[in-house]
Amino acid sequence: MLRMNRFFVAALTGLAGLAVGSPAIAQEVVKIGVIGEFSGPFADYGSQILAGMKTYLKLNGDVFGGKKVELIVKDTTGAAPDIAKRVAQELVTQNNVAILAGFGLTPNALAVAPVSAEAKKPMVIMNAATSIITTRSPYIVRVSHTLPQDTQPIAQWAAKNGIKRVFTLVSDYGPGIDAEGAFIKAFKAAGGEVIESVRSPMTNTDFAPFLQKIKDSKPEAVFVFLPPGSQTIAFIKGYEERGLKQAGIRIIATGDLTDDGTLQAMGEPAIGLITSFHYSAAHDSPENKAFLKAYVETNGTKLRPNFMAAAGFDGMAAIAEALKKTGGSVDPDKFLAALKGMKWMSPRGPIMIDPETRDIVQTVYIRKVEKVDGLLYNIEFDKYPDVKDPGKQP
Ligand code: PHB
Repeated sequence: MLRMNRFFVAALTGLAGLAVGSPAIAQEVVKIGVIGEFSGPFADYGSQILAGMKTYLKLNGDVFGGKKVELIVKDTTGAAPDIAKRVAQELVTQNNVAILAGFGLTPNALAVAPVSAEAKKPMVIMNAATSIITTRSPYIVRVSHTLPQDTQPIAQWAAKNGIKRVFTLVSDYGPGIDAEGAFIKAFKAAGGEVIESVRSPMTNTDFAPFLQKIKDSKPEAVFVFLPPGSQTIAFIKGYEERGLKQAGIRIIATGDLTDDGTLQAMGEPAIGLITSFHYSAAHDSPENKAFLKAYVETNGTKLRPNFMAAAGFDGMAAIAEALKKTGGSVDPDKFLAALKGMKWMSPRGPIMIDPETRDIVQTVYIRKVEKVDGLLYNIEFDKYPDVKDPGKQP
């Protein structure tokens, strides 16, 4: 209110925007349109991303390169490409945002990519993990992960650890199809055999027919990618109830399956699961400890920070650092040049934006679910450093 009044006075005296005399007057603002899933079955995705962004701002203030950042948040209500595109257009044409950010789900990111390309707006992807997304606009930068990047290490680890015959089950859309392809390629190259591959609808929670099929074909393990939420919880429950564990069929997966946000709800059947992933709330580093502490102080304890929160935090860091480098300019080409090749220490470990692909380069960890002080965590025990998106390698 106070700022509004001052602005009004400045406008009346013909000084609007000049901020002459008082630093408190009309600080220039950079608006960031945050597009995410804040309601519906994927509501935690948007919430975690935004909570991560707010955590960064709590620790570092909200002025970078002389510009104050302001978040304008829009809800896609789920996997809703039409809504995502419409809100992106509104953010650009009506709210005058300089940057688009967020994006939990691939279909929403893909729908907004052409808006970024046409309006020349930097677009920071804070989760959506289908490899191809970054190729859809030269102004996209991804700070999260790709499914091939997180999948390749578990395929190699499984083959090295005596697993030879695998059945794959993935969610039937972009990231699942990427995970399936990356698993088959890397597992075969390491001497393994994929006996069958099935895909389940994105929000499916009835795994009975899939689990029966898997049980009947007697693989040594099932490789799984499902987006975290009721799907992953239902899968683990069904795996336990239908006796796959007793039949000696192991689960190997990307860490989306044992996501920090849903792991506790899976309970005892999740103990011992081995996955590969780029972030664990149990990652042992000073940066992660500071992140976890600030996350709770900023957002409370309703959600345990997960990989989407970490990517929201890192995405906000990338935007802040780019603004510092450009002296507050949001000229899209200068802004992208500032982001390309950027390297820093994230709560997940060292990360870099590949200057060629604008995608994230990071360590992928192999982890095992263990109970620590009565709570379930993914405990890292092996790692593959500097993994680029294999989806972009020839
Ligand atoms: C995606 O839609 O790209 C997506 C969603 C959830 C994940 C990973 C990828 O855990």
